[in-house]
Amino acid sequence: MDYAWLLFLFSCTLIDMQKISALFVTDISVPEIVDFRDNVTLSCSYDMSGHTLNSVKWYKDRLEFFRYTPLMRPVYLTFPVAGIQVLDGKYFCNESTCRVDLSLLGAKSTGSFKCEVSGDAPHFKLAAKEDNMTVAALPQSDPLIEGFNSMYRMEEFLSATCSSDYSSVPTKLTWYINGEQPMLGELQPSIDTSIPAHDYILRRQRLQVHFYLQGHRFYLVSKILELKCVAEIENYPELRRETTLSASVTEFDNLNNQMLRHAITNSSAADTRSCLWQRTFLVSSLCALILATKYSQRDS
Ligand SMILES: *[C@@H]1O[C@H](CO)[C@@H](O)[C@H](O)[C@H]1NC(C)=O
Ligand SMILES: *[C@@H]1O[C@H](CO)[C@@H](O)[C@H](O)[C@H]1NC(C)=O
Ligand SMILES: *[C@@H]1O[C@H](CO)[C@@H](O)[C@H](O)[C@H]1NC(C)=O
Ligand SMILES: *[C@@H]1O[C@H](CO)[C@@H](O)[C@H](O)[C@H]1NC(C)=O
Repeated sequence: MDYAWLLFLFSCTLIDMQKISALFVTDISVPEIVDFRDNVTLSCSYDMSGHTLNSVKWYKDRLEFFRYTPLMRPVYLTFPVAGIQVLDGKYFCNESTCRVDLSLLGAKSTGSFKCEVSGDAPHFKLAAKEDNMTVAALPQSDPLIEGFNSMYRMEEFLSATCSSDYSSVPTKLTWYINGEQPMLGELQPSIDTSIPAHDYILRRQRLQVHFYLQGHRFYLVSKILELKCVAEIENYPELRRETTLSASVTEFDNLNNQMLRHAITNSSAADTRSCLWQRTFLVSSLCALILATKYSQRDS
């Protein structure tokens, strides 16, 4: 009898422990890197597994800026924290997920963001997950290619410059000529310009490529020249931007031939025209001659 009681109590404790440990945050979504001009959405999902949800709290660097308490009034509370602003009415939480939209202020918006969920009494079990977000001034446009024409001749010298957009994160520029990277001697050292703006030091890269349209690159692909400039940000492949321009390439001899062909066509057209004139003149002259002969016969 006593043993049965003990067993019963023991299994109750086991069930209770299972219930307590079942509460956890399954997922947190915090963008890794964002532009300070954008709004961001943070969200987290949790598995209550039978617990009643007591609260969901969002923290930036350990400072609470948002609270959801479904059992209390008001249900939603926001707190001022430096660097971020919870957008009015732009949040939604329930028993399984909690989402909050923020506007950002600049470099000081960078930080660690934590979602913490608590269960009901008597345990008030906590579960949390956090992630870092970098708030930067990201390039807003694709790289710019300057000095490139729409038509080139073989053997011609080409020089073009690529500039990345200003950004607070360092950009690396790479040129591709018909899909191949230029040789070292074909690149000028890149030029780095920086300006302070929006609490950031914004930097821009300029990289010049120059080469003669000759050699192995153009033996096979001589009709189209494709120049591509890629701007990449280290560790963030999703921020890659690129610009591609193409030009038609004419072989020097072909260009001469074309001019020659045009000249021939034009002169033969001129020939046809003058021939027509000659014939008209000939016919008129003959007519005049016949008439003249007739009149002279009648006269005599
Ligand atoms: C951010 O949200 C606010 C409020 O909804 C809006 O006025 C603003 O245009 C948004 N900014 C961007 C970049 O979407
Ligand atoms: C909570 O809201 C999300 C998103 O609107 C919805 O998909 C989900 O079914 C809701 N969960 C509960 C338990 O109501
Ligand atoms: C967040 O950044 C800090 C400091 O750079 C680092 O120690 C920590 O591991 C990062 N956390 C995550 C979840 O990446
Ligand atoms: C020949 O004529 C064509 C059009 O009829 C013109 O485009 C071209 O420039 C001319 N070429 C020469 C060499 O006059």
